[in-house]
Amino acid sequence: MDPQQAELVLAPIRGITDCHFRSLFQKYFPGFDSAIAPFINPQRYSSFNPKQLKDVLPESNQMLPVVPQLLHTDAQDFLFLAHRLEELGYKEVNWNLGCPAPMVTIKHRGSGLLPFPEQILNFLDQVIPKLAINLSIKTRLGYEKKDELLSLLPSLDDYPITEIIIHGRIGKQLYRGESDPGAFGQCLECSKHSIVYNGDIDSVEKFRNLQIQFPRVHKWMIGRGVLCNPFLAGEIKGLQTDNKLDQLENFHRELYGRYRELLSGSSHLLGRMKQLWTYLSFFFPPQQKSWKKIKKCKTEIQYQRITDDFFSMHHMKPPGLP
Ligand SMILES: Cc1cc2nc3c(=O)[nH]c(=O)nc-3n(C[C@H](O)[C@H](O)[C@H](O)COP(=O)(O)O)c2cc1C
Repeated sequence: MDPQQAELVLAPIRGITDCHFRSLFQKYFPGFDSAIAPFINPQRYSSFNPKQLKDVLPESNQMLPVVPQLLHTDAQDFLFLAHRLEELGYKEVNWNLGCPAPMVTIKHRGSGLLPFPEQILNFLDQVIPKLAINLSIKTRLGYEKKDELLSLLPSLDDYPITEIIIHGRIGKQLYRGESDPGAFGQCLECSKHSIVYNGDIDSVEKFRNLQIQFPRVHKWMIGRGVLCNPFLAGEIKGLQTDNKLDQLENFHRELYGRYRELLSGSSHLLGRMKQLWTYLSFFFPPQQKSWKKIKKCKTEIQYQRITDDFFSMHHMKPPGLP
């Protein structure tokens, strides 16, 4: 159970971990072995637009191996896109059975499908025989109740699924409360598949304790924990970083520059950066103070001044860096 041998996967966080983020993150904060891309919006195959695949084009994903994710529940639509992904060279696609957003679950997609096991099996029966690449699943404990996945898992044993990533919350919780390692452990006992742990890994200590609790788990997915402390994956792997603040500042500068070129308009650009700071501000205690100033920025000039001042201030008086 060497922490340095653990396989770490960057979680998909829609609105943040796009291909630009993933590449720069890997450049500045090595530690992850792979990533799952945020889900591709489910659309009918008849309205396919190649732009939908922009985030997973191989040329934009050279730094970190990525598995694309689909949220579709219509087998034909799913297969159509999976085939496009195969043509791009992908060997695996991930099915999202965990999204908790009400707009998604109301359509029985994401975690909203978990109370309907027969629909899940029916989908797999239609998709798997025609799918030329591997299928993995990312899911939660349930939508309404914690035992929905638990009762489904034995029926999944006979399907050729490469792995099942389990986030220890139910859909209705959204991100409230805590991820439940006990319930994750029950799922682990009930499946023959390779199971990946996901949910609330936010420190090396927590990771180590989970590794001791679940020796059968070899792959771990981390999302918000690394957005709050980008060095976490490297720390788990025992990598040393000499000047964390420089790394962080350079990452921020390069990401901002790239989005400035790519995104249309200041509000889009600032919205994107502010979303990142909702997490990154936790790196700089007291979090509240730094976040408030950035949140108030209305123009690019203001944003650049405030973030420049912010990094200079911390260079003079290093924060209680974790
Ligand atoms: C803003 C946001 C967007 C997310 N987008 C996706 C997504 O596109 N696909 C997915 O499977 N999970 C998505 N997730 C869930 C995360 O991948 C992960 O399962 C969850 O945050 C729990 O892991 P963590 O505690 O390590 O962050 C999202 C989570 C957040 C907070």
